[in-house]
Amino acid sequence: MNIGIIGAGNIGSALAVRLTSLGHQVYIANSRGPETLHDVAQKTGATPVTAEEAAQRGSDFIVVTIPLKNIPDLPNNLFAGVPAEVPVIDTSNYYPLLRDGQMTELETGDLTESGWVQQHLGRPVVKVFNNIFAEHLEKNGQPAGTPGRIALPVASDDDAAKQKVMALVEELGFDAVDGGTLHESWRQQPGGPIYCNDLPADKVREQLASLGTERTAAQHTDFLDNHAKQEQQMEAQGIKLK
Ligand SMILES: NC(=O)c1ccc[n+]([C@@H]2O[C@H](COP(=O)([O-])OP(=O)(O)OC[C@H]3O[C@@H](n4cnc5c(N)ncnc54)[C@H](OP(=O)(O)O)[C@@H]3O)[C@@H](O)[C@H]2O)c1
Repeated sequence: MNIGIIGAGNIGSALAVRLTSLGHQVYIANSRGPETLHDVAQKTGATPVTAEEAAQRGSDFIVVTIPLKNIPDLPNNLFAGVPAEVPVIDTSNYYPLLRDGQMTELETGDLTESGWVQQHLGRPVVKVFNNIFAEHLEKNGQPAGTPGRIALPVASDDDAAKQKVMALVEELGFDAVDGGTLHESWRQQPGGPIYCNDLPADKVREQLASLGTERTAAQHTDFLDNHAKQEQQMEAQGIKLK
């Protein structure tokens, strides 16, 4: 398959390593231009391109994996000419303290994080890979049927795109669990019980069911509070995000 990845950091590189090792052709872009991606190309086997080229050449999947605050910097015409059936994957998470600054619609809960991304990109997205550490994504995939295989929720309003992405998740070595619509994707956001906990499929399904689908004000506050504590701990450990 031909896969375009926009963002060549932790997640973009981890995905590129795995996808090239599965025999796929990967085109990868960052903000500074393909000439700055020599080391990434050597490490991953992906071909450095511009963001526009990654969108054009990723004829099977396009992955957008850049900091949330940088989404509005992407070119306006990024998906011009890209057929509607090509799934666009969004891996983003909101880190207000360490990286993104406060964003009103996400603080109020009027939009989910990927709902905000979808609005900015002007194109349906599929939310996945946001709730696993990059290193685990690169190294901890296992064959189907392995006990304790990590499960990843996949959420989208576009069912056909969701099915294709779920198949890709399985190919990468993870159980794909239907995470519902993008409106319901708050359940896999930071601060919640399935965020970066590497749970197996039965536990992910259990948590999704127990959270319900409509986010309550109390759940929104809880998730934000939990995540604020996680960000404060990261800051205390000297962790910096770009
Ligand atoms: N790190 C994790 O374990 C992890 C896990 C799950 C989800 N996520 C989420 O996934 C997203 C990416 O995280 P990451 O850790 O991979 O980030 P990262 O290591 O900081 O890398 C970000 C990448 O995005 C590129 N970029 C920034 N603005 C861009 C633009 N306007 N056009 C094209 N490329 C641009 C950067 O390029 P330059 O260097 O050239 O600026 C860089 O290659 C974030 O939303 C993050 O919260 C991260």
